[in-house]
Amino acid sequence: VGLSGPRFGNSVRTVSNEKLRVYRECRQKILALVEGETDLIARMASVVAVLHGAMPDFYWTGFYRMVEGELVIGPYQGTVGCLRIKLGRGVCGTTAELEKTQVVKDVHAFPGHIACDENSRSEIVVPVFQDDALIAVLDVDSAKLGTFDESDQEALEEILQAVF
Ligand code: SME
Repeated sequence: VGLSGPRFGNSVRTVSNEKLRVYRECRQKILALVEGETDLIARMASVVAVLHGAMPDFYWTGFYRMVEGELVIGPYQGTVGCLRIKLGRGVCGTTAELEKTQVVKDVHAFPGHIACDENSRSEIVVPVFQDDALIAVLDVDSAKLGTFDESDQEALEEILQAVF
């Protein structure tokens, strides 16, 4: 009786509530871990370790840092990532150039996407600011299509604002 409609609706709501709950837990854990720690790499490594360990669809999670006008790999977890990305190139370089989060439902549809790992199917890249200056981007790849939406954007932007 009424299997598909209400049940489908409920399960979608449950999944996204669950995701937000995990993001909230991650935020608390990260803030507790980095309290009193001023080193940027130590803070980035903590963000990556907590998120990558908690979020089941995070296949590659890492930072690219702004170093002399170019993105250079920072702390990450997952398969081997590209070391350097020029501004304007790929999803990370576009995020850094526009200073705006990019949510990519299908990486093959993103012009100039850089495939560090063939398994990556969708991606979110969030800019990281300190004193209004761009210092890095957080890149998360998923091996599934359409993993990320506005709720991930909101949660990740909020965590990064709290940490940096
Ligand atoms: N796909 C990214 C490159 C970084 S890796 O996926 C780790 C991009 O297009 O910027």
